[in-house]
Amino acid sequence: MSVSMKLLCVTLSLLLTANVSGGVTVQQSPVLSVCREGDVSVTLQCYHDDSSYYYMFWYRQRDNNNMEMLTYSMGQDVWEIEPPFVKDIKYTMSRPKLTSSTLEIKNVELGDGAVYYCASSRARSNQPAYFGNGTKLTVLDPAINGTVNGTVKVLPPSTEECEARNKKKKKTLVCVATDFYPDHVTVFWQVNDHNRTEGAGTDNKALQNDNKLYSITSRLRVPANEWHNPANRFTCNVIFYNEKGYECVDDTISGDLQGQSGEGMTREYYVKSTLTAKLAYSVFIAKSTFYGLVVMVLIWRFKGSSEKQI
Ligand SMILES: *[C@@H]1O[C@H](CO)[C@@H](O)[C@H](O)[C@H]1NC(C)=O
Ligand SMILES: *[C@@H]1O[C@H](CO)[C@@H](O)[C@H](O)[C@H]1NC(C)=O
Ligand SMILES: *[C@@H]1O[C@H](CO)[C@@H](O)[C@H](O)[C@H]1NC(C)=O
Ligand SMILES: *[C@@H]1O[C@H](CO)[C@@H](O)[C@H](O)[C@H]1NC(C)=O
Repeated sequence: MSVSMKLLCVTLSLLLTANVSGGVTVQQSPVLSVCREGDVSVTLQCYHDDSSYYYMFWYRQRDNNNMEMLTYSMGQDVWEIEPPFVKDIKYTMSRPKLTSSTLEIKNVELGDGAVYYCASSRARSNQPAYFGNGTKLTVLDPAINGTVNGTVKVLPPSTEECEARNKKKKKTLVCVATDFYPDHVTVFWQVNDHNRTEGAGTDNKALQNDNKLYSITSRLRVPANEWHNPANRFTCNVIFYNEKGYECVDDTISGDLQGQSGEGMTREYYVKSTLTAKLAYSVFIAKSTFYGLVVMVLIWRFKGSSEKQI
């Protein structure tokens, strides 16, 4: 980073996140924000579409830990901080309208890196809370120089896996993206230049290696006959987001008539990459249970606070 200090974080407003989960739609923007330590502040936005939802909340979730409530508002132009946080030191909330709210995070530090969730509810307790999809805030580690673009490699199905899976008539290609920073990344597959989402699955979280750079894997299962056609091209596209914007890197392999592993594919590399994938999976908490957990935490918190008030 040069001497000229940037004062504002770079936000990547790709699209608003919308979470239509029943009562009210909560939208958050941006989806991603990349900051540097020492940035003066970053402001996150939240909107919902039903002004009968008087309560709005901001939460943060660091790594895969529990959600922590930061601030809440029970009406226009009023807000409160949730202890142990202290008003206006780190967090300032605004509620200019019943349908909108912001959270300002000041004096950005590494520890502010988290996913921030906005929620709204009709009451503080005994009512469901509806969540936005979150804003992911990355604070760049000053110990890592600049932004490092990752590398992308597609690995053909392993020979052993080919035998094991032959009965199922499916082949699994593995895409490994390594050495990128920060961990904002999008992976998608193409077959003969057409997007393929069926049979595709990507780790939900990138893993940080000892060198502080990240890696992620993605898998594509295709019918065996598709893989055995050398005319077919399988491409893994990885979009790396960084403070300057984004960069798409891809790698392509062609189908193999014999189903033999292609050149450049070593067994150790495959084992290593699938191990990475397994680790990533074990780290990840199933997304489907996530909303349930959030509601449980909310209920628990509300119970706790109403007991305190009595
Ligand atoms: C937001 O969440 C909803 C439901 O969980 C999902 O359908 C939608 O694709 C998400 N939007 C984005 C931009 O991720
Ligand atoms: C960062 O760059 C400086 C100068 O280019 C170099 O001396 C230092 O070793 C680098 N640090 C890392 C962690 O790469
Ligand atoms: C890294 O990505 C940036 C865009 O963010 C691009 O301008 C640059 O050429 C890339 N560097 C390499 C070595 O690919
Ligand atoms: C393919 O998927 C990527 C990522 O989801 C998307 O940006 C792109 O527009 C898609 N392309 C087509 C042709 O649908």
